[in-house]
Amino acid sequence: MMKSYLNKAIARFVIPISLIFIGSIAFFSVCFSQEVKPPADPLAGRKVFVNKGCVNCHSIYGKGGKVGRDLGRTLTHLGPTGIFAMMWNHSPEMAKLMQKPQRMPTFSEQEMTDLMAFIYFLRYFDQKGDAEKGRMVLKRKRCLRCHKVGRAGGSIGPPLDKVRNYAPPLSLAQTMWNHGMKMSAKISALGVQRPTFTGPEIRDLFAYLGEVNTHNMDTITYLKPGRPQVGERLFADKGCVQCHKIGNKGKSVGPDLTRVDFHGGVTQIAATLWNHSPKMLARMEEREIAPPIFEENEMADLAAYLYFLDFTEQKGDVEEGKGLFTRKGCVKCHAIKGEGGNVGPDLSRSDRTVDYIKTTAAMWNHNQKMRILMEKVGVPMPRFDEKEMRDLFFYLRTERMKYEN
Ligand code: HEC
Ligand code: HEC
Ligand code: HEC
Ligand code: HEC
Repeated sequence: MMKSYLNKAIARFVIPISLIFIGSIAFFSVCFSQEVKPPADPLAGRKVFVNKGCVNCHSIYGKGGKVGRDLGRTLTHLGPTGIFAMMWNHSPEMAKLMQKPQRMPTFSEQEMTDLMAFIYFLRYFDQKGDAEKGRMVLKRKRCLRCHKVGRAGGSIGPPLDKVRNYAPPLSLAQTMWNHGMKMSAKISALGVQRPTFTGPEIRDLFAYLGEVNTHNMDTITYLKPGRPQVGERLFADKGCVQCHKIGNKGKSVGPDLTRVDFHGGVTQIAATLWNHSPKMLARMEEREIAPPIFEENEMADLAAYLYFLDFTEQKGDVEEGKGLFTRKGCVKCHAIKGEGGNVGPDLSRSDRTVDYIKTTAAMWNHNQKMRILMEKVGVPMPRFDEKEMRDLFFYLRTERMKYEN
């Protein structure tokens, strides 16, 4: 049942296809050759979500259990370690709520990867926009000066209710990008101020244009959610890499995109690209780079790539992590380089600390045992925020890497 309502939510963007994760982009300062095994399909994690019983307490887009929050609507700005921190923090409550505490779910590394990727991916699909608000956006942004919708509007550009590739929001973004040069030229020739958008505005606008579109739904081209790995290739092929540095590839003419927030999902990505396109196009002209044209699913693939840029989020603060290891009580049971407790293994030698997904799975899987041991000595379970979790993991990995060398 889970499958069907998720599919419905995702069907706005088209049926789930296999998305392949970017796993290999490593942009942390120290040179770890870290292996994050990406799932072939970010939607694969919904199976884990159902099979491990999360769905009994949590909804996704309104469907599912009501004990915890709707995970399709929260967790807005969290990366995988942040999502995991939230999951970790509620483990005592979760154990209490589960009728049989011995049935707290455990995860293989692959299952944990899938689950984190799935929850992370939920934000990519925006809520549907408000068509009425979109109508106002169109007015406010003066699109009607040049475009007709129904009978109203000018005819300098093509009518917007006849755009074939309207299917919101990425296809329209792609269409706007492809026409961007000519449109911008007209806009400046007429002395009209070039509009910029926020994510919600573009979402509403697309909802409106979708509604007024006169094309038969069957003939509309939908874009699929996008394949990050294909997007990575396009990033090079379309010349983005000539101006944007990601990791240690590329040039720094434009901003470092790993610092840009793409968590707002597809419409935010569309808005960001649109808003920056005049300056980008100007730089392209200077450098005699032909502005890229996007076809078929390319904009979606590129957007998915941008969205997953920080999925592997590796950087942390080693010193902070070291302090946390003591403050959060890990040191009572675990040693680092022989120093500390010996209830659990020495974590500077553990193969579970070489990447964060492994650490995440290992840490979760011993949650129950740890809790029972800690209750015995009367110590509360530690809680974490996203940064703390990341710093701790980074510290553990740093120590582990020293051991290897
Ligand atoms: C027995 C009920 C129950 C189960 C099963 C359960 N949770 Fe929760 N979960 C809760 C409650 C209660 C909270 C705290 C209230 C809240 O913030 O949603 C919570 C909070 C969360 C949060 C933080 C949400 C936020 O916005 O703060 C995440 C993430 C989460 N759970 C993930 C999971 C995952 C993943 C699973 C499956 C492995 C799971 N939960 C299983 C009850 C449950
Ligand atoms: C100053 C005139 C002008 C304004 C204002 C303007 N456009 Fe355009 N637009 C054009 C022109 C000219 C084209 C055709 C460009 C080409 O041929 O490549 C175009 C093309 C388009 C297309 C592609 C249409 C198709 O059928 O392929 C879309 C979508 C679009 N504009 C949306 C908008 C939106 C949304 C706004 C308001 C935010 C807007 N335009 C404001 C002049 C304008
Ligand atoms: C010729 C150089 C150049 C090329 C090629 C280029 N960009 Fe840019 N890009 C820039 C510049 C310069 C800016 C900053 C523009 C501004 O400040 O408005 C920018 C800004 C951006 C932003 C907004 C960043 C922010 O701070 O919010 C995104 C996203 C982006 N580019 C993506 C791309 C993608 C995707 C491609 C490939 C299709 C691409 N760029 C190709 C130069 C370029
Ligand atoms: C009360 C004792 C106790 C505390 C506190 C504790 N652990 Fe553990 N930990 C264990 C035990 C015991 C194991 C061995 C696995 C098992 O038996 O489930 C373990 C295993 C692990 C592993 C897997 C290591 C391997 O090689 O398999 C990781 C990673 C880990 N713990 C991380 C942590 C972190 C991080 C903290 C602090 C937030 C922590 N643990 C706190 C007892 C503890």
